[in-house]
Order: sequence, then C-alpha cells, then structure tokens
Amino acid sequence: MAKDVIIACDFASRQQTLDFLDRFEGSRKPFVKIGMELFYAEGPDIVREIKRRGHPIFLDLKLHDIPNTVRKSMKVLSGLDIDMCNVHAAGTIEMMRAAVEGLTREDGTRPLLIAVTQLTSTSEERMQQELLIGASINDTIVKYAQNAREAGLDGVVCSPLEAAMVKNACGPEFLTITPGIRFADAAADDQVRITTPARAREIGSDYIVVGRPVTAAPDPVAAYRRCLLEFLQQE
Ligand code: C5P
Repeated sequence: MAKDVIIACDFASRQQTLDFLDRFEGSRKPFVKIGMELFYAEGPDIVREIKRRGHPIFLDLKLHDIPNTVRKSMKVLSGLDIDMCNVHAAGTIEMMRAAVEGLTREDGTRPLLIAVTQLTSTSEERMQQELLIGASINDTIVKYAQNAREAGLDGVVCSPLEAAMVKNACGPEFLTITPGIRFADAAADDQVRITTPARAREIGSDYIVVGRPVTAAPDPVAAYRRCLLEFLQQE
C-alpha cells in the first residue's frame, strides 16, 4: 500500500501556488492537495498545470449533493487526471456509490475516493444539539467509515488519533488520510488534536496531510524532507 506525505497547498492564487511549487524543482515532486479556495478561484486549469509539472493531486472538494449530481460531477473530475478526491459520507451510501460510478473511467480505473466522516471542526456537542445526531462522535465516525467501505470507497479523512479506530472497524487496507500534523517543536496553530509525522506512522496513517508546517516554513523543501524522513523513514 502506498504511503505518502500530501502538502495542503492552501494558497489563494495560481501564482502563489506555482511559486511555492517552483521550490521543489529538481527534487521529489510532492503529492499536492488542492482545496476549494484555489479551485474556485482558478478552475480546472490549475489542476492540469500542477499535474503537468508531475505532482500527484488530491482534489479536496468534499462533494455532497443528490446522487445524480454527484455522479455527473465526478465524471467531470475523473477527466482531470487527479489521483485522489473526496465526498461527504453524510450524503449516504447511495450518494457514495454514485460517486464511485461517476469517477470510474471507461477502462475501469479511477482516482482514489475518500470520504469525510465528521469534520474535525464539528464538536460532539454541536453534532448532537444542532444536527440532532444522538450517537457519540466516535460511533458516528466509525459508522460513516463503514458506510464508505460498503459503498466501495478507498478510505476516510480522519484525525490521526482516530486512524486506529477506523482500521479496526474497516480493516487494515482501508485508507486513513490524516491532517492535523505538527512537528514536535512547533506551534499547533488552530489545530486541536495534532500529532507528529513520526507518531502518525506508528499509528498507521496511510497519507498525512501537512499544510502550514511546510508551506509557512522558512525552508519548505527542508520541512517537506523532514516529513518524509519521519513518516516514511526515507527522503
Ligand atoms: O495547515 P494545516 O497543516 O493545519 O492544514 C491542514 C489541511 O488539512 C488544511 O487544508 C485543512 O483544511 C485540512 N483538513 C484538516 N482537518 C480535517 C480535514 C481537512 O485540517 N478534518
């Protein structure tokens, strides 16, 4: 199973993003996460451009709509030659199945499809009081992960601290993509439940998503290499 470090390119514009990626010229091309902000600002061309430069891409658009709309939207995204994308598990098993159908190319291949369970910004209190979901947040995460697996998805985004719980429920092959990564000697920023790249490896994360510890580092290439070294034990 491929394990890797994904850099969250949370930049507002094409220029800032490409300037950042220029720093990696001549070294290993990092797996890059493109989120809503950049995609809505720059459109599919930014995905094509980053792909053309040789980076694997996680397109983090978190689709959540009726199954027919998700199927058709995923068909469009599958034409972008991305490597990973995602949907909200809250859209139901039927919606996730439609996403798999839409994403699958004529030759049967498709990018990895990952589910968002509960956003880490949603507290158990809010989930229960505003969304009227009576279960615990951990039970919800496990159930949504099991639904994603049943729908044929490849894994879930979760906090590193939830990865073992998800693996226990869904099997070792079911992927865990884990943000909330910080170096041992760094600030947490706005992340609450954080862990180091080394600890994420021990816990069994398959992909770590790292944003500011790399993008805001004085030497982003060195910070990326440190992630590789800690998480993959190789540069
Ligand atoms: O800068 P930082 O390392 O905190 O960035 C983490 C990235 O992972 C951001 O793009 C953030 O939106 C994303 N993310 C997260 N927590 C989740 C899902 C996604 O931090 N539960």
